[in-house]
Amino acid sequence: MEKLPVVGNASQPEELDLTPDELEAEIRRLKVERNAVLLAHYYQESEIQDLADYVGDSLQLSQAAAKTEADVIVFAGVHFMAETAKIINPNKIVVVPDLAAGCSLADGCPAPVFQKWLEQYPGHTVVSYINCSADVKALSDVICTSSNAVKIVKALEGQKVVFAPDRHLAAFVAKQANRPDLVAWQGTCIVHETFSEKRLLELMAKHPEAEVIAHPECHEGILRHAVHVASTSGLIDYAVKSPKTAFIVATEAGILHRMQQAAPGKTLIAAPPEDESCSCNVCPHMKRNTLEKLYLCLRDLEPRVDVPEAVRVRALAPIQRMLAMS
Ligand code: 13P
Ligand code: SF4
Repeated sequence: MEKLPVVGNASQPEELDLTPDELEAEIRRLKVERNAVLLAHYYQESEIQDLADYVGDSLQLSQAAAKTEADVIVFAGVHFMAETAKIINPNKIVVVPDLAAGCSLADGCPAPVFQKWLEQYPGHTVVSYINCSADVKALSDVICTSSNAVKIVKALEGQKVVFAPDRHLAAFVAKQANRPDLVAWQGTCIVHETFSEKRLLELMAKHPEAEVIAHPECHEGILRHAVHVASTSGLIDYAVKSPKTAFIVATEAGILHRMQQAAPGKTLIAAPPEDESCSCNVCPHMKRNTLEKLYLCLRDLEPRVDVPEAVRVRALAPIQRMLAMS
């Protein structure tokens, strides 16, 4: 079996002399030895998803983090997801395969700028999408994910609402909750922003039997063609339950692995990005995590995710509010 090349966390470059099978066996062994739970998002590499104790969308992974009795949470996802798990579990060790796995939405909403921006909207309830930093969560009244954003904004009837940081999700929520007055921070996801309506129409013409399903981080040019708009787990559920046998899926391509496992025999087609030559429908942050880095973080219990206690306490309240409302 082929030996693996040089890998590791940027801070711990290391030559691993393990085959992929040995690496997977080591990860399974270390999970037991460390009493660790491995949580993975649907956008992770398929081999990481297959090793996980739980694979889910952002809400499900937060709920799993809130329930776990493990001593260690290994979060195969991006930084804001692991940070949320740490906010909920201050006494547990939370590690990530790659500390640099960020998110364009979180990175595009720096807390000091957000705080200043909020000064324009006194008396507004601040709803923040979970794709934001702990500091932004600490400035928020309630957190939401793509699976409960509409429900949460609907529950705030009669209140003025600010929604951050994704403008496409905000526009979708404003429409669904009939809140044209929703004030939105103008952030976007680099992956969902990239889908092309022109190329989607060409693909729809080529596959008239296929239904378009999309994540609400997509822009309106994509969402207007979708028969179903939902979180990653909502899209998988739809592909399983729909009597249709073919789907054009407008979200990060990592979802296709679990969707195909859940809906065997159905045809899944990845929605096309604008630029034919790039893999822009693959999240570069999510894909920083590799099997090798996963092994190293379980072995070394590094890199850890920590949140200053004062921020953590303020960020916890809006997360708990979301969990109670979900
Ligand atoms: P979900 O909560 O739908 O899994 O979305 C997370 C995400 O980062 C989408 O880009
Ligand atoms: Fe962030 Fe977009 Fe990657 Fe999701 S797909 S983690 S929103 S950059």
